[in-house]
Amino acid sequence: MNKKVRVAIVGCGAIGRVHARAIIGLDEAELVAVCDHSEANAKAMAAEFDCNHYTDYRQMFARENLDLVTVCTPSGTRLDICQAASSAKVNILVEKPLDITVERCQQIVDMCEQAGVKLGSVFQMRFSPVFKRLKQAIDQGRFGRLILGNCQTVCYRSQAYYDSGGWRGTMEHEGGGALMNQGIHSVDLLLWVMGDVQAVSAYKGILTHDIEVEDTVSASIQFVNGAMGTIQATTSVMHGIDKRLEIYGEKGTAIIEGETVVKWEFEDDDLPENTEERRNQLSPSSPLIEDVQGHRDQIQDMIEAIRDNREPAVSGLDGLKAVELVTNIYKAADSL
Ligand SMILES: NC(=O)c1ccc[n+]([C@@H]2O[C@H](COP(=O)([O-])OP(=O)(O)OC[C@H]3O[C@@H](n4cnc5c(N)ncnc54)[C@H](O)[C@@H]3O)[C@@H](O)[C@H]2O)c1
Repeated sequence: MNKKVRVAIVGCGAIGRVHARAIIGLDEAELVAVCDHSEANAKAMAAEFDCNHYTDYRQMFARENLDLVTVCTPSGTRLDICQAASSAKVNILVEKPLDITVERCQQIVDMCEQAGVKLGSVFQMRFSPVFKRLKQAIDQGRFGRLILGNCQTVCYRSQAYYDSGGWRGTMEHEGGGALMNQGIHSVDLLLWVMGDVQAVSAYKGILTHDIEVEDTVSASIQFVNGAMGTIQATTSVMHGIDKRLEIYGEKGTAIIEGETVVKWEFEDDDLPENTEERRNQLSPSSPLIEDVQGHRDQIQDMIEAIRDNREPAVSGLDGLKAVELVTNIYKAADSL
């Protein structure tokens, strides 16, 4: 494949524009079309990024000879879009969460496998230099036996945020609240570095908003490797704090706030790591993403996965696992 990879986007809202900005900065990619069920949204974004627009993604898949589609619609809409894309043999990169139930995610994974198309799940924080370094340190055994893995997403979203768009804060379209939407980035990072989870207990509630889904959740977990941990997420705290990840091992400790290392100490080397590569992609008080580098790196990885016929760095199965842990936390809280 020497030609540019032909890419389209379904969903012309906030994150769709982040994808468009990421794609137009890539030498090997060409943004050829966008699609939205709102013609006004599709038209506006096509004019902004100088490409074709559609209101019917099936028509777009049939006409545009695409190599890749990125799916940026609300969380509970992905299954139908992935069905149409995989049937048209188009590779797919889906925004987080992959979909809103384990069953729907599993269907997406299975249909892509059967169609022989690549499926990636967006978790752009994995491409941040600091988290890559953390993963490498764990894989090199620098932490020794893993003891505790904790993550906190303490952020703020106003009632107006939930009232915008119609789909936010609803069970039908989001499948969950603070954890499914904002906290899932940290859930993915924790699963990536600590491994699978075998047991969960949790509390959740709606503490400050008028919405159907939780705005606050606190879970206690046990990993398959015997380590323990906590996962907390809330959208109720003004103005929030940077996402916090704590990894404690027998021989080392790493604490990361946002994308800044605040503690990095090991038995063999206790010098603080260089933190110059800070990117600041996610704000605790705003849903808007200014820095598109994480998305650009992930779309570049997807292009290389298509070219080299390999799995993307963050697979559909990774997307499914994060949704599975989130929904297991909800079930544990509901069972109390
Ligand atoms: N990776 C990140 O950090 C990040 C950040 C923000 C949002 N997101 C995810 O992106 C998704 C979209 O969020 P957003 O803030 O861009 O929402 P948004 O409401 O701004 O945009 C969604 C767009 O999708 C369109 N749409 C809805 N259903 C559709 C359908 N069936 N077919 C075609 N178009 C459809 C809407 O008309 C709208 O233009 C969410 O799932 C969210 O979790 C990810």
